[in-house]
This record gives sequence, structure tokens and C-alpha cells, in this order.
Amino acid sequence: MYNSVCFIILSWVFAVLVFPGVPARSGDSVLKDNITVRQGDSAVLKCNVDSKVSRVAWLNRTTILFAGNEKWSLDPRVVLMENTAVTEYSIKIQNVDVHDEGPYVCSILTNKKPKSTKVHLIVQVPARITNISRDVTVNEGSSASLMCLAVGRPEANIIWKHHSPRGTHKFVTEGEYLELRGITKEQSGSYECIASNDISNPDVRTVQITVNYPPFISKARGTGTSVGQRGVLQCEASAVPRADFEWYKEDRRLFNGLNGVKIENQGKQSMLVFFNVSEEDYGNYTCVAMNTMGITNASIILYGPGAMHDVNGAAVLHRCSVCLALTVTSFYLLKF
Ligand SMILES: *[C@@H]1O[C@H](CO)[C@@H](O)[C@H](O)[C@H]1NC(C)=O
Ligand SMILES: *[C@@H]1O[C@H](CO)[C@@H](O)[C@H](O)[C@H]1NC(C)=O
Ligand SMILES: *[C@@H]1O[C@H](CO)[C@@H](O)[C@H](O)[C@H]1NC(C)=O
Ligand SMILES: *[C@@H]1O[C@H](CO)[C@@H](O)[C@H](O)[C@H]1NC(C)=O
Ligand SMILES: *[C@@H]1O[C@H](CO)[C@@H](O)[C@H](O)[C@H]1NC(C)=O
Ligand SMILES: *[C@@H]1O[C@H](CO)[C@@H](O)[C@H](O)[C@H]1NC(C)=O
Repeated sequence: MYNSVCFIILSWVFAVLVFPGVPARSGDSVLKDNITVRQGDSAVLKCNVDSKVSRVAWLNRTTILFAGNEKWSLDPRVVLMENTAVTEYSIKIQNVDVHDEGPYVCSILTNKKPKSTKVHLIVQVPARITNISRDVTVNEGSSASLMCLAVGRPEANIIWKHHSPRGTHKFVTEGEYLELRGITKEQSGSYECIASNDISNPDVRTVQITVNYPPFISKARGTGTSVGQRGVLQCEASAVPRADFEWYKEDRRLFNGLNGVKIENQGKQSMLVFFNVSEEDYGNYTCVAMNTMGITNASIILYGPGAMHDVNGAAVLHRCSVCLALTVTSFYLLKF
């Protein structure tokens, strides 16, 4: 603070005593093109002089950086360019930062006539994400809000893209905040925040949204099995978190390793395996799938050989148990 006040006073002294009339003679001031540099790079500010020039100086706004070869600035990043042509009086600002942006003036005194060249330094900063939400887990139907903050000059443009678990990939919205209300399981997956401002490659980071939902049984299948053979009932449930399974015959719960059955759980699938099917094993089984979000079940019939394999070719849910009952009944009617 003291330094800048001191410099402003000095530069005023300089301007008044050394270059009387510098600020007033706008007619002799030339605005050169803006100089654009990236943050961290060096900026070279050029000023042309000739042999008639008696005094020269570089100013940052009203503060003198260099007066002739004498450095007034205390900033070590500011250096006078040497080895340049005799007709050039240039300075270099190393490791440019955003607060260096602004007008710089080269003041020249030729034959007691002041002249100045103004350059405007523009500092660019590549878009960079500074803070992004953590991965979240929400229940189906509730809301999720994601945040992605970025810096950049010019200001970073932020967009969100969604990569669903099925592999689809689409634009969602623009802006720092992404608000999802009444979230569905299809909206789970990774969300990509892309910050860009054309200064360099976009900065990309992702957040994962996990959507919890109750199980739904997508496959419930039994096979026709003869007495004395191995029989398998299959049940498959989609759920987040992953479903736990229980198997029942009528009201009786079945346990792994008891009554000649084995329960094999593999990911979203559960299998009830009969080591050696007997006549009493035929009948109505229920697969129950549950997680923290809910519970559901499906009926599966273990039937004898020659029966149709699959009702409707796919899932047999408890909602469809009536049609299943009819099919099974008709099967037995035909048989006997
Ligand atoms: C230089 O930059 C200033 C400030 O950003 C702007 O107003 C001006 O139009 C620019 N001039 C040129 C020649 O680009
Ligand atoms: C130019 O002046 C600004 C404002 O006082 C200051 O923040 C910046 O560090 C200065 N830059 C140089 C290179 O002198
Ligand atoms: C990111 O933003 C969150 C929420 O505003 C804040 O609690 C956290 O401290 C921020 N993290 C960083 C590294 O700035
Ligand atoms: C299956 O059970 C029947 C009747 O209990 C028995 O006779 C037969 O040997 C068993 N088969 C196998 C492969 O264990
Ligand atoms: C299966 O679901 C139905 C309907 O929700 C329910 O009434 C029944 O008790 C369930 N059965 C079992 C074994 O959980
Ligand atoms: C199987 O059991 C379920 C539930 O106990 C019942 O709703 C269904 O009607 C039964 N199906 C058959 C074919 O008996």
C-alpha cells in the first residue's frame, strides 16, 4: 500500500517535472492493439523509439515500472528487454496474473514533445473446475442437486452431460447447478461437468448419482423336470441396493442345504436348485426379493416333464399368478 502510494506520487512527480503535459496531450497518444496472454505466460510490451528520443518510461496505469534503464517497479517479474533493436524499448512481464490486466503506457519525450503508446494487456485463464459435488445416492422419487464451480477468463461455460448405465449419453443442462426432481432410476449414472472457454481444452469432471429403488422381478422361470433329476427355478430382480432373496414353498421358507435344495445367489439372480426332484417337490414356489426400498415376489411352478417351459416367454410375476394357475391347471387336466 505504502509502495503504491509512493509510486503514484513519484509518477506524478515524474510526469509533471520530467514530462510536463503527458496526460493532457491525448492527441499524441497511440492506442495499439490489445495484447492477449495466458495466465502464467510472459507478456512483451513493445515500444518503438528513435535516436531523437531523450527520455522513455513504461507505466502500469499511473505507476512507473521503468524510467529509461532504471527500474522503479519492485516487482521481480517486470524486466527490461535487452538485446533488442536500438529502436525498441520493451519490457517483459513474466508469469502474468489476472491483476496485471489493464492499460500500460510507454511515454516518450522527443525534442521536448511527449508522446505515449498505450497497450491494453488482457489476461486469459483456461477454464478450470474448482469444486464439484461428491457422488450422491438418493431414493427414487426424491431430488438431487449437483454443483460444479469453475474459473476462467473469459468466464467458463458449464454444461452437464449424462452417461446412463445403459450407455446412452446426452446433454442435460447448462450452468453451475444441476437440479433433478422426482428422480427416476433411468437418471442414475455418471454426470459429466464440462467447463470450457476456448482458451484450452475443456476441463471435465464427473459425479456419480446412484438411485435406490425397490426390487422388481424381471425373470421368474421354472423348467420341466422329471423325478430323479436336478431341477432349477430361476428368479432375477433389478434393485438398488441389490436385492436379497428368500424362497418359499407355499408358506414354508426354504433354506440353503435343507430339504434337498440349494439356494444360489449370483448378482441380481437367485436360483433354487433341487439335487434330486421327487414327486412331492412339484408345486408352487415363491421367490421374494427385497431391499431397503421394498419387497416383491413372484410365483414359480416346478412342474413335471413335457410341460411348457415358459409362460409368456418371460417373466411370471405374482400379478400374473392367475394366468399361471390356469396354465398349470390346464396342463394337469390334459395330462390326466
Ligand atoms: C482492447 O480491450 C478493451 C478492453 O477489453 C476493449 O474495450 C477494446 O475494444 C479492445 N481493443 C481492441 C483493438 O481489441
Ligand atoms: C499493474 O497494476 C496493478 C494494479 O495496481 C497491479 O495489481 C499489478 O501487479 C501491476 N502489474 C505489473 C506487472 O506491474
Ligand atoms: C466445495 O463446495 C462445498 C459446498 O459449497 C464446500 O462445502 C466445500 O468446502 C468446497 N470445497 C472446496 C475445496 O472449496
Ligand atoms: C433320487 O432320489 C431317489 C428316491 O429317493 C433315489 O432312489 C435316487 O437314487 C436319487 N438319485 C440320485 C441321483 O441321488
Ligand atoms: C407376495 O406378494 C403379495 C402381493 O404383494 C403378498 O400378498 C404376498 O403375501 C407375498 N407373498 C410372500 C410369500 O411374500
Ligand atoms: C402360488 O402361490 C401364490 C402365493 O402363495 C398364489 O398367489 C398363486 O395363486 C399360486 N399359484 C398356483 C399356480 O397355485
